[in-house]
Amino acid sequence: KKDVRILAYESSCDETSTAVIKNGTDIESLVVATQIKSHQRFGGVVPEVASRHHIEVISQITKEALNEANATWDDIDAIAVTYGPGLVGALLIGVSAAKAASMATGIPLIGVDHIMGHIMAAQLKDKIEYPALALQVSGGHTEIVLMKDPIHFEIIGDTRDDAAGEAYDKIGRVLGVNYPAGKTIDSWAHQGKDTFNFPRAMMEDDDYDFSFSGLKSAFINTCHHADQIHEELNKYDLAASFQAAVIDVLAHKTVRALKQYQPKTFIMGGGVAANHGLRDRMSAEIEKLPKNIQPKVILPDIKLCGDNAAMIGAAAYNLYNAGKFADLTLNADPSLEL
Ligand code: KG4
Ligand code: ZN
Repeated sequence: KKDVRILAYESSCDETSTAVIKNGTDIESLVVATQIKSHQRFGGVVPEVASRHHIEVISQITKEALNEANATWDDIDAIAVTYGPGLVGALLIGVSAAKAASMATGIPLIGVDHIMGHIMAAQLKDKIEYPALALQVSGGHTEIVLMKDPIHFEIIGDTRDDAAGEAYDKIGRVLGVNYPAGKTIDSWAHQGKDTFNFPRAMMEDDDYDFSFSGLKSAFINTCHHADQIHEELNKYDLAASFQAAVIDVLAHKTVRALKQYQPKTFIMGGGVAANHGLRDRMSAEIEKLPKNIQPKVILPDIKLCGDNAAMIGAAAYNLYNAGKFADLTLNADPSLEL
């Protein structure tokens, strides 16, 4: 059987990335141009700034991805690109670059959902057996996703308000941590204790949905109240208490879904899947499940949890096998749903 090489683009938010992926599993090259420094002074991603940075680097990193993989266009079987969800101006840069390359070379085009990409980062680590269940936690999404095969996904749980990563970034701001705050809060959490007992929302509810805005408000109120009475709070304990509340809810709902659906594989994906506390907790929870329903666990490499084109190339391979190609009418869809 002939190898399939996919050149992939990702530009949905604040990283511009290209990669060449062989057979949906092997990373032949991966280039990630991050813009985080440009956004930090604004405390979050500024869409217009993001688009400009994507434009500046996209041609250059297309060449880099091919060079690093020792490939020319002749070696590429498909060109894949994230077309949503994300910032529309940012998505358009990747989509336009991919369409231009496809038109110039005649290589077929594949449009990939960013969330499907995050989940398929797992495929770069180990073989996914289906049905699979994913906890997809990022800056924009917090979902439990059921996958009956590599291309059919169903969201069975979702956040009613803030995404988990968004909550990390918002409480990080209160603690004076630069955007994106998740990684720093995670490391502080390991140096503190859960002394504040922040609320765990919707634990009793008979569904797989989440809510993090109450936790965020409780956190902010605690800090403001302390400011008013000039009390010094321990930032490590604050971080540990926040993280414990987030993880308790994510773990509780995910375990319930695992018991109900009994998938063959459990996957974590998205920026927050890099969280050490969450990775350890989910691994421990799965060990506690009865042996006959214990799924195989795939936690993607930490560096592939955040936005990158390798995961887009992995997901695109599954679409390639299913014959799901796009044409030059492909457009950015900022609110694309799985
Ligand atoms: O997947 P991603 O790179 O972008 C989106 O698609 O949203 O996720 C970025 C999010 C940010 O909110 C960031 O604070 C969070 O992932 N994050 C973390 C950690 N590393 C990144 N959150 C918690 N713990 C971490 N170690
Ligand atoms: Zn993402």
